[in-house]
Amino acid sequence: MSHADDHSGTRRDFLYYATAGAGVVVTGAAVWPLVNQMNPSADVQALASIDVDVSGVEVGTQITALWLGKPVFIRRRTAEEIEAARNTDLSALPDPVAQNENIDAGADASDANRALSEDGEWLVMMGVCTHLGCVPLGDGAGDFGGWFCPCHGSHYDTAGRIRQGPAPTNLPVPPAVLDGTTITLG
Ligand code: FES
Repeated sequence: MSHADDHSGTRRDFLYYATAGAGVVVTGAAVWPLVNQMNPSADVQALASIDVDVSGVEVGTQITALWLGKPVFIRRRTAEEIEAARNTDLSALPDPVAQNENIDAGADASDANRALSEDGEWLVMMGVCTHLGCVPLGDGAGDFGGWFCPCHGSHYDTAGRIRQGPAPTNLPVPPAVLDGTTITLG
């Protein structure tokens, strides 16, 4: 069975819609390989930097922005999610590296090194499983309350760190800046 065939059984209802300046927002599930085949137009690919208005994102919810043709998860975490991430012993992490493009390459995978805002509320990361590239399910999915990739069973915690399953690394944190209620990607 090819990898593409692997995904045929995991289709979920999903929708995507444009928001001002933010490209396409995707909600739903692990269907990225299908969307990807639609080949983003040249003008979408050219948007190396986009502004995402996050004023409407409630605590405990997330949106998915499209940046450079890939989904980016933007989550506004609850106090419980932040606490769970910050109380995790770093020795429990299969990937000990932050995987955050905004800081030193060798920095550890502490929650403070992955969250966008100092208070930990905003977490921004690529919505692409580091195993074979599916889009993980969010909103507390999986055994660690974060994200779960059903393709081959990778569990990510509330900081997007791989905890169990075949994915080799934490979900990467892209270049991002928070300014008021706007997050700039790229
Ligand atoms: S793509 Fe295989 S577990 Fe995510």
